[in-house]
Amino acid sequence: MAYNSILVETRGKVGLVTLNRPKAMNALNAELLHELVQAVLSFDAEAGIGAILITGNERAFAAGADIKAMSDATVTEMLTGSFVELFDGLRKVKKPVIAAVAGYALGGGCELAMSCDMIVAAENARFGQPEVTIGVIPGAGGTQRLTRAVGKAIAMEMVLNNRTLSAGEALLYGLINRVVSNERYLDEALALASELAERAPLAVRLGKEAVNKAYELSLSEGLEAERRLFYMLFASQDQKEGMQAFVDKRKAEWQGK
Ligand code: CAA
Repeated sequence: MAYNSILVETRGKVGLVTLNRPKAMNALNAELLHELVQAVLSFDAEAGIGAILITGNERAFAAGADIKAMSDATVTEMLTGSFVELFDGLRKVKKPVIAAVAGYALGGGCELAMSCDMIVAAENARFGQPEVTIGVIPGAGGTQRLTRAVGKAIAMEMVLNNRTLSAGEALLYGLINRVVSNERYLDEALALASELAERAPLAVRLGKEAVNKAYELSLSEGLEAERRLFYMLFASQDQKEGMQAFVDKRKAEWQGK
C-alpha cells in the first residue's frame, strides 16, 4: 500500500508509522489520519507484529489538526464529514501502541499521543492544547483524556490558557511514561515496543483491554470485567505454558493461543 503522508516500515516485530508532513509540522489532515488509521489497523491484523509505534520527526510529533484545512469549515461539514472522528479508529487497535514524541505535540498532536497506550518523549518534547488561541477547544479527546491523565487543575490551565508542558513536567504529571535524550528517544521507544512484542500476546491484549475499562466503568464493573478477562486466559495455551515454564525454571515459549 502506497501512502502520501506517512512512512511505514517494520522493525523486527514492531510496526513503525512515521508521520510525514514535515513542512507543515505534521499537521493532521484527513489524508494523514486516514492513512495512519489504515496502517495501524493493518499492523494490528498482521500476525508477525506484536506492537505498534507512532512517531514524527525531531521538530514535531504533530502540531495539531491542519488549521488551514479546517479554517473555512461549516458546522454542517464538521458534523457530517469531520476528520476528528477518524481518531476513533485508533480505539479499535488491540495490540499495544506507543507514541515516540519529539518536539511539538500540540492540539490534535497531543490528542493523538494520548490515544496511544504509552508515550516515550524526547527532552525537547512539548505538550499542549492551544485550541483556545484559535477560538476553539480540543475536539479529539483533549479535554477528556488530558483531564484523566493530569487531573483537573493542570488540564484547565492547558485548555483554557494554553499552558504547555515540558517533557519533564509531562512525566511528573503522569501524562507520559519516560523522558529520553533527543538522540535516543526513538531507539528507546523501539526497545520498549520490542519488549512488549515479545510478551504473551493474549495477556498483553487483554491487559490493555482491562486497563482501558478503568476509563469507562465504575470500580465494581471494572473489577468484574477484569476478573472475567483474567479467567478467560485460563483457556489459553500461553497460561499453561507460562506457569509450567515458571515451575520448570525455563523461558516460556508463547504461541498467542
Ligand atoms: N495546521 C496547519 N499548518 C501548520 C500547523 C497546523 N496545526 N502547525 C504548523 N503549521 C505550518 C505553518 O503554517 C508553517 O507553514 P508555512 O511555512 O507554509 O507558513 C509551518 O507549519 C511551520 O510552522 P511555523 O512557521 O509556525 O513554525 P514555528 O517553529 O514558528 O512554530 C508551532 C511552530 C509553535 C507549532 C506553530 O506552528 C503553531 O503554533 N502551530 C499551530 C498549533 C495549534 O494551534 N494546534 C492546534 C490545532 S487545532 C486542533 O488540533 C483541534 C483538535 O483538537 C483536533
